[in-house]
Amino acid sequence: MRIRKKRWAKPEMEKDHKVIYNPTELKGKWKDIFGNDNPIHLELGCGKGNFITKVAELNKNINYIAIDVYDEVLVYVLIKANENKLENIRIIPINIELLGNVFTQDEIEKIYINFCTPWPNRRHQKRRLTHPNFLRIYKNFLRLKSEVWFKTDDDLLFKDSLQYFKDEGFTEIYKTFDLHQSDYEDNTMTEYEEKFSSQGIKIKFGMFRHESTVSTKTSVCLFILVQIYLAKSF
Ligand SMILES: C[S@@+](CC[C@H](N)C(=O)[O-])C[C@H]1O[C@@H](n2cnc3c(N)ncnc32)[C@H](O)[C@@H]1O
Repeated sequence: MRIRKKRWAKPEMEKDHKVIYNPTELKGKWKDIFGNDNPIHLELGCGKGNFITKVAELNKNINYIAIDVYDEVLVYVLIKANENKLENIRIIPINIELLGNVFTQDEIEKIYINFCTPWPNRRHQKRRLTHPNFLRIYKNFLRLKSEVWFKTDDDLLFKDSLQYFKDEGFTEIYKTFDLHQSDYEDNTMTEYEEKFSSQGIKIKFGMFRHESTVSTKTSVCLFILVQIYLAKSF
């Protein structure tokens, strides 16, 4: 995605309490920032925030944090949040790779990943926001039994991601390869979703529940080690 520099974005963001430039100092204190005990949901790679501002308007009893690396897009999240007087939204300009330093165990109750870059080239697949390396970061702060909701236009990314979630011990609780023709009724469209669906591209959508802090591979290894130990003991 090509981003055009906007010199006015950062000064606009710096003067607003909704934008958090020191997020690592607030690890474990996010409830204090919102001033209530409501659940906290994240959107990773929120872009201009069409989705997160709509869901924040619909669910005033949930706190939302919009995350993206570019001030140039986040400034539009801020404008929408202020136009709609949304007090249940905060904005963090950060690379998602660093989120392990921002949130502590159980602090987050849902993650949305909408239309992240598909990175089809094998060498770059580790940059996918659903790659196991990222899922392991999320598991450090996502409360057990909480969900990750994932939408994409990209078939290969979706298929690979189904396996990534499985490998990391998430349970698939819903999946469709054509969201807009599916039985799922509560969909809130994102900016990229509108763009892709207007081109006739089917939207893929999955919900995955965080069931275990260890990956499937680790569980299998542990199981085998226990079996060997038991066999040797008797
Ligand atoms: C294709 S856009 C999707 C925007 C929005 N979610 C939507 O569906 O309309 C992907 C966004 O993810 C952000 N992004 C990608 N990788 C990121 C990373 N590692 N850390 C933070 N933001 C990232 C990009 O800056 C971009 O705004």
